[in-house]
Amino acid sequence: MSETPTATPFIDVLIIGSGAAGLSAALHLPVELNVTILSKGPISAGSTPWAQGGIAAALGGIEDVEQHVDDTCRAGNGLPDGQVVRRVVEAGSRQINWLLELGMPFSSESTQLHLTREGGHGARRVAHAADHTGRTLMETLLEAVQARPNITLMEHQLAIDLITTQRLGLTEESNCCIGAYVLDLAEDRIHTLRARHVILATGGAAKAYLYSTNPDSSTGDGIAMGWRAGCRVANMEFMQFHPTCLFEPRAKSFLISEAVRGEGGLLLLPDGTRFMPNYHPDAELAPRDVVARAIDAEMKRLGIDCVYLDISFKGKAFIEQHFPMIHQRCLEFGYDMTRQPLPVVPAAHYTCGGIDVDEHGHTDIAGLYAIGETSHTGLHGANRLASNSLLECLVYGEAAAAHITAHHAEACSRNWSVPGWDESQVSDADEAVVVTHNWDELRRAMWDYVGIVRTTKRLERAQHRIALLRREIHDYYAHFRISNNLIELRNLVEVADLIVRSALARHESRGLHFIRDYPETDPACAHHNTVLTPLNRSHPQGEPPHRP
Ligand code: FAD
Ligand code: SIN
Repeated sequence: MSETPTATPFIDVLIIGSGAAGLSAALHLPVELNVTILSKGPISAGSTPWAQGGIAAALGGIEDVEQHVDDTCRAGNGLPDGQVVRRVVEAGSRQINWLLELGMPFSSESTQLHLTREGGHGARRVAHAADHTGRTLMETLLEAVQARPNITLMEHQLAIDLITTQRLGLTEESNCCIGAYVLDLAEDRIHTLRARHVILATGGAAKAYLYSTNPDSSTGDGIAMGWRAGCRVANMEFMQFHPTCLFEPRAKSFLISEAVRGEGGLLLLPDGTRFMPNYHPDAELAPRDVVARAIDAEMKRLGIDCVYLDISFKGKAFIEQHFPMIHQRCLEFGYDMTRQPLPVVPAAHYTCGGIDVDEHGHTDIAGLYAIGETSHTGLHGANRLASNSLLECLVYGEAAAAHITAHHAEACSRNWSVPGWDESQVSDADEAVVVTHNWDELRRAMWDYVGIVRTTKRLERAQHRIALLRREIHDYYAHFRISNNLIELRNLVEVADLIVRSALARHESRGLHFIRDYPETDPACAHHNTVLTPLNRSHPQGEPPHRP
């Protein structure tokens, strides 16, 4: 099932993840470097193709930049890192121009880009391709990647764990990442990939929750792999819930874009009354944490299953022009948004925390980068501003590529041999159903106990269940041959634990973290990130000794 590792030559840059972050990093690397991009599913497996609203970018000069900085910091409840915010926001127009050069067909109005608006933005600032920005972005980036002979795209390759010098017991060295063990799902064998630089671009972890807007790939693999390898992880308590996911079981997590509210959509109770003006002066366009919490409160107050989002009064022509994909999809489920309000509920959407990185996307481990939703850069603070995620993916893709280019020569001076994956002490799984049950149990516990409104007691309850599940999964991992379900579950339980530990560590309510025991925001915590540090030991966290 594994291969002789020394037979595989060093890859210059191994990028784990083929979303906006991974693809843009690859495109910014020089053609002299050989680059391999892995996706655990098809290339389109991540969240990027699902993005609807657009890419936030201050295209209106200095004043717009200042306002975008302010909006990002305000939405993030004061916690974003001001320097990071400024750097990312200032790069916005360069990123949009780069995409235009690549041929990205943004929606436009006469000769200008059409800019839409979303919650928390004080102005129209979101460049988009109708309501399918992510799909169009993927097509644009992929076309450019496929034209580059130095880039190899590999589908159905599931990274299991990073290979580090510490993992190999080379403790005299500072910890350095030199590759990854990867399960080839097509051929059912494990590759030992050696690389000069590794980029984690594996997306978020919203699948830790029962209800999520995310595709199945969002199992926090990069965060868990980075953590096990020795990286610090920050602000995991800030899981963003999107206020408006279609309430329709057959739709499996279909998002109704915030741009619907940006273009005038109203949130209504079943009797047709608006409620958002009671919660925030910006009503439907308040920051996302406020809107999601308001919907949650109204649903609990009235004992209702959903609220409603109405934009029918804008007329058919307007809706078909601005929201063609959403309109079509809703029609498939029997909802005509040109004539009726849509039933909506909040769902887990975006992981604001992640692997802690510097301005280059570099982690605590030499040669290892984390970019996109997997990372914590300091941009989002306690609540991400809408459409700032794709911008962050593009900015940090470029930054990581520049840093790698500058440090490539020194990375080439190192040459380690790496042991292959050892399957000699494991057997075939006896009851695969255990894995399925644990998936369900974990995601339900997170939804019930670590959701939009938290209490210390519920968090402790979740922690207790997670500890039991973690032990069981670890045991399973140690004794049985691995499968994709097991690997993802092992990562998900790790990330769930990090979320709960971070939530218990923050003794205030701020942004997405609302806890009844500490309902106020504590000004003393305004610059306090929740940073978890892994135990520093030569054998990675919780690793069975026979796994290399
Ligand atoms: P992803 O696009 O999620 O890609 C992750 C990649 O990693 C995939 O290729 C996956 O196969 C791979 N992968 C994961 N684990 C492994 C592993 N173990 N081994 C190998 N490969 C692995 N943001 C905005 O800014 N604007 C929007 O309008 C917007 N709308 C959204 C709408 C929806 C429905 C959703 C779900 C998100 C939206 N977001 C939006 C958020 C944004 O889309 C994501 O944060 C962003 O696309 C993440 O990009 P990424 O490159 O970091 O990861
Ligand atoms: C949306 O279109 O509502 C999603 C935007 C985002 O998550 O940034």
